[in-house]
Amino acid sequence: MLTILVTGGAGFIGANFIILARQKKWAKVINLDKLTYASNLQTLAELQNDPDYNFVQGDINNAELVNYLLKQYQPDAIINFAAESHVDRSIFSPRDFIETNVVGTFQLLEASRLYWQQLSLQKQQKFRFLHVSTDEVYGSLTPQEPAFREDTPYAPNSPYAASKAASDHFVRVYNHTYGLPTLTTNCSNNYGPRQFPEKLIPLTILNALDGKPLPIYGDGQNIRDWLYVTDHCEAIYLVLQQGKIAETYNIGGLNEQANLTVVENICAILDDLAPKSDYRHSSLITFVKDRPGHDKRYAIDCSKINRDLGWQPQENFDSGLFKTVQWYLSNSEWVNQVRSGSYQTWLQKNYDHRQV
Ligand code: NAD
Ligand code: TYD
Repeated sequence: MLTILVTGGAGFIGANFIILARQKKWAKVINLDKLTYASNLQTLAELQNDPDYNFVQGDINNAELVNYLLKQYQPDAIINFAAESHVDRSIFSPRDFIETNVVGTFQLLEASRLYWQQLSLQKQQKFRFLHVSTDEVYGSLTPQEPAFREDTPYAPNSPYAASKAASDHFVRVYNHTYGLPTLTTNCSNNYGPRQFPEKLIPLTILNALDGKPLPIYGDGQNIRDWLYVTDHCEAIYLVLQQGKIAETYNIGGLNEQANLTVVENICAILDDLAPKSDYRHSSLITFVKDRPGHDKRYAIDCSKINRDLGWQPQENFDSGLFKTVQWYLSNSEWVNQVRSGSYQTWLQKNYDHRQV
């Protein structure tokens, strides 16, 4: 079995990946996570007695700690999920994004290089550094333009996208210059269980359950390509095993939806699963001031990973969204924990200034 150092594994995608990796016995896992606001260790409570799972609280910027973990656990791979990941927060505080996404990724690459260089030839050939990135590095599409391919030029538009683009470039450099066996994945918007409710889908579910306004930026016609998180995790594992060193793989849901449609679908599911006697959930929809520099459309052409590795998304949007809403309804303890404290401050900061 592989041993993988996962960074950012107490966040949304990393935690789903670790849970799947342990269920399917893909790998032993060491999870290095700083435990920022976006993390929740309760998400991984089911693994607390698993001898092949270890959690370490720490920063990917802490070279001494990362060097120690690499020496101690001798991983066959590193999967870098750790990031500041929310566009709206990047508009308020870009520095945090540079520190973790750019400098942190660089520090991790540098520690990986030093570790990799002293491995035996056999272990060097087996080792992989997989960097988890986003479609947002490619910028924004008009409704007519073809979907992003791996060779689409980078054109990031938000501090978040720029920081991820910079990190992708450093990953490329560490392969090209130093020979580190890297892989990069650029994925579209994920949804599913365990996502922090600052992002559109869980925010809508939880606000709707509370009878609060459902904020739609602008006219609600911005388009995102939604992928169920488990499909993303399966794709990452496949790329780790079979991806060609130095290559990039675009991962997408083949599922472009306007934001307003997504929110309306969630409302319809809640009308069935948690009906209100005096109103329909869609009556809570509220158009608010747009996000500055709001990208119009993202779409991923995932024909490369389909052709080369045989991957395609398994979940369809209706059933994936239904399962997601059910998960939030059934996990009120998790929900209450992530909504306490700084989450309320964030809601005020991001929404109070947006005129209706
Ligand atoms: P998330 O915000 O839910 O979780 C990020 C995790 O990283 C948190 O647990 C946090 O504590 C940890 N972290 C932050 N800074 C750290 C640091 N300096 N050192 C160690 N840990 C740190 O993010 P997510 O949605 O799970 O995204 C994971 C990765 O996938 C990110 O790199 C993101 O750019 C990428 N991605 C996300 C999406 C999406 O739709 N969520 C889509 C494509 C790509
Ligand atoms: P988000 O989940 O923040 O992901 P990203 O910005 O990385 O795509 O937002 C998804 C879309 O939903 C995006 O077009 C912005 C929009 N949005 C709203 O309309 N209202 C909201 O309250 C949020 C958080 C997002």
